[in-house]
Amino acid sequence: MSAGTPRRRVAVLISGRGSNMTSLLAATKDPAFPAEISLVLSNRPEAPGLATAREHGVNTVAIDHKQHMSREDFERAMQEVLEAHRVELICLAGFMRILTPWFVERWTGRMINIHPALLPLYKGLHTHERALADGVKLHGASVHFVVPGMDEGPIIAQAAVSVLDGDTPDTLGQRVLAQEHVIYPLALGLLASGRIAIEGARVRVSGEAAQTTALVAPQLA
Ligand code: GAR
Repeated sequence: MSAGTPRRRVAVLISGRGSNMTSLLAATKDPAFPAEISLVLSNRPEAPGLATAREHGVNTVAIDHKQHMSREDFERAMQEVLEAHRVELICLAGFMRILTPWFVERWTGRMINIHPALLPLYKGLHTHERALADGVKLHGASVHFVVPGMDEGPIIAQAAVSVLDGDTPDTLGQRVLAQEHVIYPLALGLLASGRIAIEGARVRVSGEAAQTTALVAPQLA
């Protein structure tokens, strides 16, 4: 980013511990990163990630969805707060509320999500359990644009990990999470610096290096 270029103002939406939020916060500490976290917003006032964000000196807002009559009512309250903070981009980071088309359409092309699976496999919950039950050898994480369908939308970045012999949902989930923390800042950086073009279902990244090595599992000792 050239000196003087304004950084894009980002809101991170969380519902829980916020480890992905923390990885985004760490990336934005670099003044050369093209985005800054202007707000962390949670639908759960008790979300541990809110305290972490405050420790980093970031503005936090809790909007308890249980205090709102309808989904849209809750989302209108979020939209007001986002506008008040002049938010340009949204990162969903473990935000466990389904968003209505009303909200999603307001943020088309400007809202991204991280999901703990190699989409379009394993949309929804319990992704690590389901990957193990299916016996896949590669599993992973995806960052994608948010569209009205749950865990759908053009994919910006993915990371794959090998599924190991003794894996439990927990051990597999930990290796996936470590990769989430790599690809989320990568994807936000690409979006915020304008290096992404959506072409139908595909996302084209300008300046991408051709990578021809395959990831093969299992690897022999
Ligand atoms: C992450 O693994 C994220 O991919 C997942 O929730 C976890 C939140 O952890 N998101 C979803 O399952 C959304 N479909 P974090 O609060 O430590 O970032």
